[in-house]
Amino acid sequence: MSRTGDARVFAIVPAAGSGRRMGAEVPKQYLELAGRTVIEHTLARIAGHAAVVRVAIAIAADDARFAALAPQLPDACRVVTGGAERCHSVLAGLDALADEATDDDWALVHDAARPCVRSTDIDTMIEALAGHAVGGILAAPVRDTLKRCDADGNIEATVDRNALWHALTPQMFRFGALRRALRAALDAGELVTDEAQAIERSGLVPRVVAGHADNIKITHPADLALAELILAAQARA
Ligand code: CTP
Ligand code: MG
Repeated sequence: MSRTGDARVFAIVPAAGSGRRMGAEVPKQYLELAGRTVIEHTLARIAGHAAVVRVAIAIAADDARFAALAPQLPDACRVVTGGAERCHSVLAGLDALADEATDDDWALVHDAARPCVRSTDIDTMIEALAGHAVGGILAAPVRDTLKRCDADGNIEATVDRNALWHALTPQMFRFGALRRALRAALDAGELVTDEAQAIERSGLVPRVVAGHADNIKITHPADLALAELILAAQARA
C-alpha cells in the first residue's frame, strides 16, 4: 500500500452528472474519446496512480452504462450512487470510503469529465501538500486580461489577474475535514461547486498547486476534439 507520509490517498470520482451543456445523447463521461470512453481514460489515470489505494466512483441512480465498464475496472474501484449535485455525489463517495479511511488520510476528488489530468501533476500535488494540515487544489493561473462588465456588456473595470487562478481537479483534502465540511455545507443549504469552497466556508485555508492547463473539463461539444489533441500530444511527449 502506498503512503504519503502516514496518510494514504483515497480517490473520489464524481461521475453522476448528465452533461446538460454537452447536449449529447449520453452523459459526456460515456462519450468516446480516442478509442474509449471519457471515464475510462479518467479512471485509468486515477486508479492507475501509484499513491491511490481506493477509488469511489459516484454514478447516477439511473445509470445503465457504467455496468458494462465495471468488469474491466481495477479491484481498487467501488461504485456508489451519486446525488442531485456534484457536492452530493462527492459526499456519497466519501461516505462509501469512511469505513476504511482515517480522518488524516487524503481524499483526492477528481472529475470524471477531466480525462487529460497528468499523472505528474498528481505527483506534484501530493508532494506539495505532504504534511499540510488542510490540503489544496490543482489550479492554473489566469492568463488573459479580465474585465468586469455590467449586464449590458459595458466594461466597468479591469481586474488584476495576478491573484486569480482557475480551480481544477484533483482537489485533495484531509478526509475527515472534507467530509465534515461538505456535510455542513449541505446541511446549511449551500451547494458548493468544489471541495475547496466547502473547506473555505469551514474556516480552513486550502492552497493552490500549479498544474497544467491541459487538464480541461470536457464541458461543451468542442472540448472533445480538444481533449483528443491533448491526449495525442501527451502520448508523444
Ligand atoms: N457530477 C456528479 N454528480 C452531479 C453532477 C455532476 O457526479 N449531480 C460530476 C460530473 O459527472 C462531472 C463532474 O461532476 O464528472 C463535474 O461536473 P460538470 O462538468 O458540471 O458535469 P455535468 O453536471 O454532467 O455537466 P452539466 O453541468 O453541463 O450538466
Ligand atoms: Mg454540472
